Amino acid sequence: MSVRVAGIGTALPEKVVTNDDLAQHMDTSDAWIRERSGIGERRVGGSTVDMAVEAATAAIAAADLTPDDIGFLVLCTTTPEKTFPASSAMVAAGLGITCGAMDLNVVCAGFPYGYVAAYGMMTTPGGPDRVLVIGSDAMSTIVDWTDRGTAILFGDGAGAVVLEKSPQGELLGQDFGVNGDLESILYCDLGDTIVMEGRQVFKRAVRAVTGSVENALAQAGISAEDIDVVLPHQANIRIIEAVTQRLGIPMEKTFNVLEHTGNTSGASIPMAMAAADEAGVLEPGAVVLMSGFGAGMAWGSVVVTW
Ligand code: COA
Repeated sequence: MSVRVAGIGTALPEKVVTNDDLAQHMDTSDAWIRERSGIGERRVGGSTVDMAVEAATAAIAAADLTPDDIGFLVLCTTTPEKTFPASSAMVAAGLGITCGAMDLNVVCAGFPYGYVAAYGMMTTPGGPDRVLVIGSDAMSTIVDWTDRGTAILFGDGAGAVVLEKSPQGELLGQDFGVNGDLESILYCDLGDTIVMEGRQVFKRAVRAVTGSVENALAQAGISAEDIDVVLPHQANIRIIEAVTQRLGIPMEKTFNVLEHTGNTSGASIPMAMAAADEAGVLEPGAVVLMSGFGAGMAWGSVVVTW
């Protein structure tokens, strides 16, 4: 038995903050931010639960289903709205459903973890026929808006997919890991804002993602040139360029939204997936790579056939 993506949805808050807006109250510029990160603007003012419900509703509609068809819900988030209940329960309430629901926090690497967790759950005896996997993060709520090292990078958003049991959609390979010793280069204390050593995170991310993709490909028994579509975590276009160059994958195979969204953490890979879907490249049988990294330092890659 396999699992396919039956529907994709996204949500962004209305308020746009451009690089020029940021440059009005910190020592930075549109040119610097674009050159160093590829980001031109981001959205702010979203709530994790509201954005998740909006993206999930769109994904369910795209799959021609109703919320009652969902058998389980996974919410990948770094910005839960309360200590408890889990935000996933609030999202389920927003959708009007009572299936099992759980939060999953692997920060910016969350979506591949959620995808494989859902896949595993669906393929165990008695597992649900359809799982909603959502990435939703209101990063603007944990950014220090006076810190030019981090404020330029992050934004709010959500992306959701409906996974469904299907004869097509094979999981070919996966690779996950964390290096908890690196906490000091990227962390956010409870109730506080993001602290980051950007240059260190950049270097480690390139190394971790490259290695992780290599491991997932080796497990799948395929090579980089077999990949048709790359859905990378949307942190910095230079990280995506460095990784694809090392792996020998043409940038044209990657789908990116960060110019208009910034880094939306757990939402970024499903948003890249929506962009790939819009471009019409997610054909049945296409080999698709999703790869993320984030604080932890955590990484996760999954290779599937569409
Ligand atoms: N605007 C203008 N200048 C800035 C700046 C800003 N927003 N932020 C830093 N600078 C300055 C620095 O002070 C430094 O000046 P100096 O040379 O006089 O010391 C110079 O620009 C270069 O800084 P550096 O930190 O080396 O830049 P960089 O090329 O590494 O880019 C990041 C900085 C943050 C964009 C980059 O390191 C990055 O994206 N790292 C990964 C972060 C990430 O992905 N985090 C999320 C992980 S999920």
